[in-house]
Amino acid sequence: MKDYSEYFNKPSLKNAKHRGKDHIQHINDAYEIPADMVGIGRGQKYHIKTYGCQANERDTETLAGILESLGYVSTDEIKDAQVVLLNTCAIRENAEEKVFGKIGYLKTVKKTNPNLIFGICGCMAQEEVVVNRILQKHPQVDMIFGTHNIHRLPVLLKQAMLEKEMVLEVWSKEGDVIENLPSQRAHKHKAWVNIMYGCDKFCTYCIVPYTRGKERSRLHNDILKEVQELKDQGYKDITLLGQNVNSYGKDFKDGYNFASLLSDVAQIGVERIRFTTSHPWDFSDDMIEVIAQNENIMPAIHLPVQSGNNEVLKRMGRRYTREQYIELFDKIKKAIPDCTVTTDIIVGFPQETDEQYQDTLSLYDYCEYDLAYTFIYSPREGTPAAKMEDDIETSVKEQRLYKLNELVNEKAYKQNLKFLDQVVDVLVEGTSKKDDSMLTGYTQHQKLINFKGNKDHIGQIVKVKVTEVKTWALKGEEIE
Ligand code: 5AD
Ligand code: SF4
Repeated sequence: MKDYSEYFNKPSLKNAKHRGKDHIQHINDAYEIPADMVGIGRGQKYHIKTYGCQANERDTETLAGILESLGYVSTDEIKDAQVVLLNTCAIRENAEEKVFGKIGYLKTVKKTNPNLIFGICGCMAQEEVVVNRILQKHPQVDMIFGTHNIHRLPVLLKQAMLEKEMVLEVWSKEGDVIENLPSQRAHKHKAWVNIMYGCDKFCTYCIVPYTRGKERSRLHNDILKEVQELKDQGYKDITLLGQNVNSYGKDFKDGYNFASLLSDVAQIGVERIRFTTSHPWDFSDDMIEVIAQNENIMPAIHLPVQSGNNEVLKRMGRRYTREQYIELFDKIKKAIPDCTVTTDIIVGFPQETDEQYQDTLSLYDYCEYDLAYTFIYSPREGTPAAKMEDDIETSVKEQRLYKLNELVNEKAYKQNLKFLDQVVDVLVEGTSKKDDSMLTGYTQHQKLINFKGNKDHIGQIVKVKVTEVKTWALKGEEIE
């Protein structure tokens, strides 16, 4: 492996911004359990609390796999665990404050269980300000490690067990692509598959390019092998993951791109293939064609727009105009007529005027999204937007979010109505948490549906007639 010693231990935003020309290696044998850690967790339990996006959920599966390879078993109860990890998210301030709340709670748990090893990892661990705050105010944390070195968990755990000092190992430079890590998947029938790590888009509000590093694609053979293995194990719904999947393969410069990968994954024959997230800027015609041509690539695309106003889009560094976005949106809807489209929107970006906000509403009205994740802008230290003057009153931002959400709900209901009385294919996930007599699952269009059906069909794809439509979910009955 390369020598990254100058980037080790404490995170540095300055280093994290850097995009070097170093060749990324794909390493198959980096994972090692130190001899004296083999079986160390036997008879002991771990608990991982995950915040944030699917990249984090997927990382948690790897962390869980590593801990299980050491002999630990999972518990839902923090107080029963000997190892507790918080896999954190840095995207907005409120996500971070939740984590600090949990750190405070763990302080009390550690009082009754002083042998507990308590670790912080994920995106917040990559932030200088966060690590400094933990070092100063939360000495009960035993271990901090970042997003680039999760394969080092056995070694770090060993240090934490032996040393009185807090173990801190955060790399401010992306690591290589590490293959063959153990994995404990969260679900039995649907799975996430990383296809790339990092992000080079540097949208001005976003912390991700700093916390997740430079874009690195996995080798396509490694991805195809993983998908084939999942299919052989009976997985029916696979989501290809990346901060911007459209950039897949650009680092190889051999012409094999996301459209090629999507097409090859489709040939493996898993019933349902999805992908997230796509940046509108490099969503290619080839991708649209591959999605349109392959029945097992689901017609449900997440296409974050962020704002409907050109001036705001420019200051966000989004690389497209409202008109270009609409052109892409129309192209997708024309090529894949039943495609559902969801989006992400930020309101209250620095200096966003009321007229600019109205442009977001009118764009929303045009696209009639199936769903949107909507956020009030949150300044992230170290990003360019955090230096822009933020002169909008909190009450105005809240009002904008509220009004936007009314529109989101209205359109979500309208889009769901299209499915009323239709027969849809549903991958049955299990019984509904609220009502044991009902089953729950997702349609091809990623709509949550609760329905009356046969419990023996859990894990299968069944036909369900939609009998009722709500804003957030459908209701139905399985048809034999
Ligand atoms: N403030 C608010 N929302 C943000 N997002 C990313 N960064 C910020 C921020 N600083 C939103 C974007 C992105 C989604 C994952 O989170 O809408 O698409
Ligand atoms: Fe949060 Fe972004 Fe990190 Fe995902 S990649 S956990 S959304 S900061």
